Amino acid sequence: MREIPEVIEVLELRQSYGDYEAVRGVSFTVRRGELFALLGTNGAGKTTTLEVVEGYRPPTSGSVRVLGLDPYADGPALRRRTGVMLQEGGFFKELTVRETVDAWRRFTGRARATADVLGRVRLDTKAGTRVGQLSGGERRRLDLALALLNDPELLFLDEPTTGMDPEARRTTWQLVRELRAAGTTVVLTTHYLEEAQQLADRVAIMDAGRITAAGTVAEVLSGRRSRITFPLPPGAAASDLPRLPGADLAVQGAAVSYAVARTAPALAVLHEWAGSRGVELDGIEVRQASLEDVFLALAADRSAVPGERGASPT
Ligand SMILES: Nc1ncnc2c1ncn2[C@@H]1O[C@H](COP(=O)(O)OP(=O)(O)OP(=O)(O)O)[C@@H](O)[C@H]1O
Ligand SMILES: [Mg+2]
Repeated sequence: MREIPEVIEVLELRQSYGDYEAVRGVSFTVRRGELFALLGTNGAGKTTTLEVVEGYRPPTSGSVRVLGLDPYADGPALRRRTGVMLQEGGFFKELTVRETVDAWRRFTGRARATADVLGRVRLDTKAGTRVGQLSGGERRRLDLALALLNDPELLFLDEPTTGMDPEARRTTWQLVRELRAAGTTVVLTTHYLEEAQQLADRVAIMDAGRITAAGTVAEVLSGRRSRITFPLPPGAAASDLPRLPGADLAVQGAAVSYAVARTAPALAVLHEWAGSRGVELDGIEVRQASLEDVFLALAADRSAVPGERGASPT
């Protein structure tokens, strides 16, 4: 059989709950072996989109193909090949971790050994603990273990690291990287923009039911301005600060921040200005635009122009 490079094809997906349209014409593709991250504000429609792609609900309109199948009509066939970590997994609190995994294994063909999956998510020491007594981050890891039971070729992770401490988050990132290196296609949503920046081959930013920016992280960041920041030097006033070529200046208290298109000419002017005044630019930092900057800029654009919902996806 010909290998289809697109594992997921979503075209003009719309999804309504009663009168409320939560997803308003979303299109994207996910290729085999890549990690695709859906980002966006609370209520943007990420979970709704995932639920349609996972086959839990039929689309109100538009088309969705996953592994060449119709995810809703071909649900059972799809579920054998996919793993799903819901945003809010439901567990029986009275069961232990081991009993929970064992229960799920009975419904899963080709299931991995319980000890094996618990080891992968570093929950082996909690096997005898009741699920109701797990911490929030541990419960997310149990969710992840269940999603990995059938060695899925396509894995959906809805906010996989919410509630995890920084170390558990990094362990999870490492696991996701290993899965991807082994050929698993991964679709995740996250509010941790660093997570997307670290893991994703491509991202889509959703806002109010639409995709407002999409592409590789580099593409989404291209054309975004870098930031030069430093504390206002002692003896200098905000009004003394120089204008920099193609830059916007913001001063909040003693914090100076320039948004610049090109850093070298901007730094040259700053250097000259500091030299001529005999002040130091201690604590100066130059930072490339991050996904967080894009995210905040898109949100600011929306609140600045009522009714405008940003650009169409690229
Ligand atoms: N079952 C439902 N019935 C009615 N409205 C719903 C339902 N599920 C979600 N919504 C609404 O649809 C919108 C999109 O919700 P969704 O859960 O897809 O957002 P999200 O992007 O995943 O947000 P978050 O980042 O908070 O998880 C929200 O306004 C939400 O209130
Ligand atoms: Mg959600």
